[in-house]
Amino acid sequence: MFLVKPWRALAFGVYGYKNFTKSGFVEHSKKFRPEDMEVRIEGKNCIVTGANSGIGYATAEGLASRGATVYMVCRNKDRGEAALSKIQAATGNKNVFLEVCDISLTSDVKSFASNFSSKDKPVHILVNNAGLLENNRLVTSEGFEMNFAVNVLGTYTMTELMLPFLEKAAPDARVINVASGGMYTSPLTDDLQFSGDKFDGVEQYARNKRVQVSLTEKWADKYEDKGIGFYSMHPGWAETPGVATSLPRFSKTLSGNLRTIEEGADTIIWLALQPKEKLVAGGFYFDRAEAPKHLPFAATKGSRVSIDSIVDRLHSFSNISPS
Ligand SMILES: NC(=O)c1ccc[n+]([C@@H]2O[C@H](COP(=O)([O-])OP(=O)(O)OC[C@H]3O[C@@H](n4cnc5c(N)ncnc54)[C@H](OP(=O)(O)O)[C@@H]3O)[C@@H](O)[C@H]2O)c1
Repeated sequence: MFLVKPWRALAFGVYGYKNFTKSGFVEHSKKFRPEDMEVRIEGKNCIVTGANSGIGYATAEGLASRGATVYMVCRNKDRGEAALSKIQAATGNKNVFLEVCDISLTSDVKSFASNFSSKDKPVHILVNNAGLLENNRLVTSEGFEMNFAVNVLGTYTMTELMLPFLEKAAPDARVINVASGGMYTSPLTDDLQFSGDKFDGVEQYARNKRVQVSLTEKWADKYEDKGIGFYSMHPGWAETPGVATSLPRFSKTLSGNLRTIEEGADTIIWLALQPKEKLVAGGFYFDRAEAPKHLPFAATKGSRVSIDSIVDRLHSFSNISPS
């Protein structure tokens, strides 16, 4: 059993180097169908969290360039406004809006949802992209460990509060959760806020991303008859401000073989554009195809009981009314 962790790390490294790098993207893109992306989505309302930078920025731009109305959810007004202007200028689409919201705070997500409800608009596409890998153990003003607060609790609260607006866009509504291949190194664990002594941000991030993938499956089962599709995905290893800050050594070692932000966003946009009949509800996607949720012999398969108990705890942490 003590060899499981090194095995997971090795399997992840080898699999990742072959597939998640830029060369992996180039190889996989030989099978891409250009027509899949030649879809206009005028009249569709999209919410992209963490849209001022990296993969979220490229996603917001990609959706705006196809005519969608895009709500960019960003925590910093200045950074959000700068990104908004750039996207409007690049796409000529004026239906791109900034919503300032710190996803790490459930109170902020609730305010965002409450303001959004006054627009009385359906939401066709929600992209839960905002994420971070914080190497230090920081705690939010609401008392939650920071990685967990953004990656898991923020994703949960945002999605649950957007359900009424997603239902309005049924049967075409969909939620795309930007997870990570990092989850291959972690099983589902009940220790949501990393209570151990020696905090490890990389491990906490992997745990968070595993929860996102399981949550996506859970939501897909729960809300399928409401006409909302749920998908998780891995962008591959892309050169973003987040990677440069959180994983400087990794970023330096793979310099020249990391994906561009557009390549990182490619599968998110693909998932947003495909007819739902083509997609597997609750599926984990990578490079425009369904990907395995576990690596061989990695012993990461969690039980349904665990995700159910995690959902109960998220529900209680978020303090939102029963759905
Ligand atoms: N890049 C990769 O290789 C890679 C691989 C696997 C998965 N991912 C996932 O892809 C997603 C995007 O990451 P990225 O690499 O593009 O990183 P990034 O460049 O750091 O972008 C992250 C975005 O999330 C925002 N964000 C962070 N905390 C937030 C909060 N509390 N409230 C609102 N927004 C917040 C950031 O805003 P600020 O600019 O204000 O910080 C930024 O806009 C993440 O979920 C990440 O886990 C990335």
